[in-house]
Amino acid sequence: MRRGILIFLITTIVVLGFAVHHVWTLLELLVIDGREDAILRAELPAPNSGAISERPQLIPKIIHQTYINESIPEHWKGPQQSCIDMHPDYEYKLWTDKKSREFIAAEYPWFLETFDGYPYPIQRADAIRYFVLHHFGGIYIDLDDGCNRSLDPLLAYPAWVRKTTPTGISNDAMGSVPRHKFFLNAIDRLPDYNRRWPLPYITVMASTGPLYLSVIWRHYMKAQPEEADRVRILFPAEYNNHSWSFFTHHLGNSWHNNDVKLIFWMASHWVIITVIGFTLGLALLWCLYSTFVVARQANTHKGKFAYSRIPFYRRISSKDIELNDRHQV
Ligand SMILES: *[C@@H]1O[C@H](CO)[C@@H](O)[C@H](O)[C@H]1NC(C)=O
Repeated sequence: MRRGILIFLITTIVVLGFAVHHVWTLLELLVIDGREDAILRAELPAPNSGAISERPQLIPKIIHQTYINESIPEHWKGPQQSCIDMHPDYEYKLWTDKKSREFIAAEYPWFLETFDGYPYPIQRADAIRYFVLHHFGGIYIDLDDGCNRSLDPLLAYPAWVRKTTPTGISNDAMGSVPRHKFFLNAIDRLPDYNRRWPLPYITVMASTGPLYLSVIWRHYMKAQPEEADRVRILFPAEYNNHSWSFFTHHLGNSWHNNDVKLIFWMASHWVIITVIGFTLGLALLWCLYSTFVVARQANTHKGKFAYSRIPFYRRISSKDIELNDRHQV
């Protein structure tokens, strides 16, 4: 019996250890918020301050956006135009499906097979933004984000991304100098993460989307890059909703599907889901333990009442059935 429990405990620890090790980066993302790399509101000049022009401008003045083709839907024309109008001295690049493919074929041919093989168009739209930031540098903005003030102050950081709640970073607004090491990592690892998961939403998130970028970000920051290579984080207040924020957020996420509701529900209930998961896992281990380890000991000892030692689980004996029958009379 003692040995049985020991085996049970060791198995449980090994299984738990393996599970935790496997999802360690994801668990870290739940607690790490990148606060130490925050772009502090105090260091940002006010929207019309003269101090803006005194700051270094490392990131080239290019705005990148993506869409299927040149016909931007009506509801995104406003946000798109707000960014163009506010930045007359910036180059504007719209990456259509056709242009994106030509660009990958010409500049990153090693990636073309993966790029063409993606089952969901949004994966190509995700991937292309990392490549153009790596190649040209500049600022990528989702079409559903409008501009609320000049982006000039954000040119002062070699690379920045936006924080999302409750966890991780997003890929809907990002800036970078050309060939920044973070975006080098982001394009280099794409083929490794090109896996299919049971739900399209997870596949997109984990292969090219915000979850992918968050995992790459964690690995990158854990390697403790030098100060100039660190990725600065734009927090929600500086992203939108305030007069000093950079963006205004409009109708979003054209690609979200039904499975998204399930995922969002799971994300908002992740504590209870984790507890249920571990409980079910432990219960399963206990059942296996009772069935195989204890049953085998019972056999080797040839004990008549061996099963009565098993706490959660008892075979019905013919005696029980007799009693039941009598009660029913
Ligand atoms: C652009 O794509 C949209 C959506 O697929 C389509 O309805 C439209 O006809 C396309 N426009 C052009 C000019 O090809």
